[in-house]
Amino acid sequence: MKKQGDLYYPTPEFKEKALANDESVYEEAARDPVRFWETRAEKLFWFKKWSKAFEHTPPYFKWFVGGKTNITSNVFEKNSLGWEKIRGKPAVVWEPEPLEEKPRTLSYEQLFKETCQFANALKRMGVKKGDRVAIYLPMIPEAVVAMLACARIGAVHLVVFSAFSAQALKSRLEDAEAKVLVTADGYWRRGKIVDLKTSADEGAKGTSVEKIVVVKRTGNKVAWTQGRDAWFEELTRNEKDFCEAEVMDAEDLFFILYTSGSTGKPKGTMHACGGYIVQAFWTAKLIFDLHENDVMWCTSDIGWVTGHTYAVYAPLLNGITSVIFEGVPDFPAPDRWAQIIEKHKASVFYTAPTAIRMFKKFAGDATQKYGFKTLRLIGSVGEPIDEESWLWYFKGVGKEKCPLVDTWWQTETGGILITSLPGVGPFKPSYAGRPFPGVKAVVFDDEGKQCKTNESGNLVLLPPFAPGLLRGIYKNPAKYEETYWSQYGKSVYFTSDGAFIDENGLVRIFGRVDDVLKVAGHRLSTGEMENAIEKLPQISECAVIGLADEIKGQTPVVFAVLKNATAAAVASPASPAAASPADDFKKKIVDQVRKEIGPIASPKEVYFVEDLPKTRSGKIMRRILRKLFTGEELGDLSTLANPESVEKIKQSVGLK
Ligand code: PRX
Repeated sequence: MKKQGDLYYPTPEFKEKALANDESVYEEAARDPVRFWETRAEKLFWFKKWSKAFEHTPPYFKWFVGGKTNITSNVFEKNSLGWEKIRGKPAVVWEPEPLEEKPRTLSYEQLFKETCQFANALKRMGVKKGDRVAIYLPMIPEAVVAMLACARIGAVHLVVFSAFSAQALKSRLEDAEAKVLVTADGYWRRGKIVDLKTSADEGAKGTSVEKIVVVKRTGNKVAWTQGRDAWFEELTRNEKDFCEAEVMDAEDLFFILYTSGSTGKPKGTMHACGGYIVQAFWTAKLIFDLHENDVMWCTSDIGWVTGHTYAVYAPLLNGITSVIFEGVPDFPAPDRWAQIIEKHKASVFYTAPTAIRMFKKFAGDATQKYGFKTLRLIGSVGEPIDEESWLWYFKGVGKEKCPLVDTWWQTETGGILITSLPGVGPFKPSYAGRPFPGVKAVVFDDEGKQCKTNESGNLVLLPPFAPGLLRGIYKNPAKYEETYWSQYGKSVYFTSDGAFIDENGLVRIFGRVDDVLKVAGHRLSTGEMENAIEKLPQISECAVIGLADEIKGQTPVVFAVLKNATAAAVASPASPAAASPADDFKKKIVDQVRKEIGPIASPKEVYFVEDLPKTRSGKIMRRILRKLFTGEELGDLSTLANPESVEKIKQSVGLK
């Protein structure tokens, strides 16, 4: 990219070969967004064409009404590049964490066969279209196979991040009433085996799960329940390697993915078959400028939406190669990620600002020695990227030649909605960019008036909504209406993000306006953490806030009010030989969060306070707690029920 004034534009070399390289695609979409998506959908395979492209009955909407398709037909036999062209090509390249272990490559043909075998095995287990199958797997090829196998037979997958705790798994299994759970004996994390099966067993206890399918990954000994548990390898070995694709209605439920909202319980976002395929395929093609020989490494775990769309479905729909990696990018050395890019000749690299900040800090010098010659394009996702990290990524990794796409989207949107197209631009550090063609993203003030240029407000989406946008919250239509369609009426989708749009039409996102945190790019709910902590009998109440963190973007901090007896015990001094009772209890709180949610939610700090600031109606004012740390004006405290609590908190936390 080349800088012109404040803005960056693609180089002529990139532009020349780019799939979209002028304004025409934006103009076409602006003239008739429904028609825009419709003509894009026509490039995919449908068993039967739709009768109507878009239907809107606020707050519900449908895309490609009456159309019939299956995502796996579009990945395999009916791939847009042609099956003969891709069948021998690597579909998935898997890099295990241990360096001594060899990577594994699955061609499209092998992946198709394995998908069909597992699809047949699922059928034999009694799984039918619409049944829910939970996938609690690490980043191994079988995770991709399991997702595709569900899609092949129309079973609804819910992928649960493998680092989520047994409790977090359980609540999702219960809500989704899953019939089958697919897991592994373990996986490698920082040189050690994580025993996944024990968490799977614990999570499945007392739920509707009838069968647990276990992939042998690490070979560690696992507990076994006869009749319920089965090895993946044994189940699939003798199955036929072809399975007919289920004919899915465009609006059939494709998958559920749980995500955090303001309140305690995770919400199961529902995604529809037809619209998701169209959006995944086209956003990836145009935003990552996918040409047939591209090798894409999207570092997200499949447990998150980014992994679903840009590590699995979109690269495969586009017939290119997707790299998946079992481990963490900085193990065994801080430049492991750089080695993987070079080793697998990645041409598109897509990661999160937290990872970029980590690379910069711990492998900044080491990256000088990597030429990253194969890279054509780099991307960022999941949280706002600061200007300094943007520049480092652009220079250190993109070597100033690769376009850097900062992509904004959400679990709910299924695919990217805001980012400038790489062959068109413009780009500006820390700005997500322009809305994708066909996407109407604007900023509203609190009254629902459109904000002026550079005026901050709430980011909203207007109809026709992108085809991949969620269709509901599983078993909770009231929550769907309340969360997304109540702030500005039933035809305006509320994103819960604060933003402004500048004079170039570039969207600058500055973060969530609700009580959701982005910790290392992971979406966490303060309410969920508070519920977990309040399960401890010694806690009277608590509040969790997110504070700025140099690497992780945000990090959770807990303010806990203890019941009297515990408060007295915690106040007692430490004996010289042992940790203080206060430290012990802080650890107990941290452990409780790890147990109920997972290590990613570990609080950085726990403060014991006497009282929490509340409104007269009893709502905890987390905003005030946050401002105590950021040094912002606290504003008028007289509206609080207990204004004196603020001063006391300052003292107990040691703030001036
Ligand atoms: O706050 C926004 C932030 O991540 C939220 C969505 O999180 P999740 O559902 O986990 O999906 C993440 C990956 C798509 C958004 O509401 N976010 C995502 N991308 C960006 C971002 N914030 C700023 N810039 C981005 N590029």
